[in-house]
Amino acid sequence: MDSMRDNRIIMDELGPDMAKQAAGIHAAGMVRDGMAIGLGTGSTVLFAMQQLSLKVKEGLDITGVPTSFQAAIRARELGIPLTTLDDHPVLDLAIDGADQVDPLFRVIKGRGAAHVREKCVAAAAGRFIIVADPGKIVPVLDAAVPLEVLPFAVTPVLTSLRNLGGDPVLREGQKKDGPVITDNGNMIIDCGFGPIDQPGQLEISLTTIPGVLSCGLFCGFTQKTTVIVGDMTGVRILTR
Ligand code: A5P
Repeated sequence: MDSMRDNRIIMDELGPDMAKQAAGIHAAGMVRDGMAIGLGTGSTVLFAMQQLSLKVKEGLDITGVPTSFQAAIRARELGIPLTTLDDHPVLDLAIDGADQVDPLFRVIKGRGAAHVREKCVAAAAGRFIIVADPGKIVPVLDAAVPLEVLPFAVTPVLTSLRNLGGDPVLREGQKKDGPVITDNGNMIIDCGFGPIDQPGQLEISLTTIPGVLSCGLFCGFTQKTTVIVGDMTGVRILTR
């Protein structure tokens, strides 16, 4: 019994990281010499960036647009050359994580409050490569949807979200009193809607509320999305 419990603890503790690592390494293998790529934010894409760092040291010539301060800091530490959307408005591909992915490759992102820049970078990319562990793959999107909101408009946006049937909560900082302030100087509202029947419709409704910069629903990139799901034994590649 004890060894079974120990094994389960090892799976619980190491499983997600090994899965993320497998997905990240596979995604890095899709990057070719001369590419301009999007560098996502979060714990899964870190493994792709670490692998890319090794390849850059071996001579791979790439440049990356970071989706956040976190991605930019990591890229500098890892020696991955950086660029901007001004210099590279069209990217070959973007590699990024997700909070949930449904069977039609509609995605919820934004746990790390980076989804506004992540969406700009995904839009600029020819291919959108999602790296994920199996826990992210769901039959129906039902996680709270993050919205980046102008501080000026937080109260009317909360009202609009309640009117849409949502349950909005202003995101609080950790190791910081008060609300989370994003890389763009705005606030984050996480809004639960329960199971989301029509994610594309909801994305439009949310992003047309005045004061909302963008929401964490990504429904417009499904045709160019590849999902790489890592697990303890390798990866599964999901394409449409
Ligand atoms: C950042 O705001 C998010 O969109 C992340 O990309 C997403 O939450 C995935 O992060 P993990 O790979 O850490 O789960």
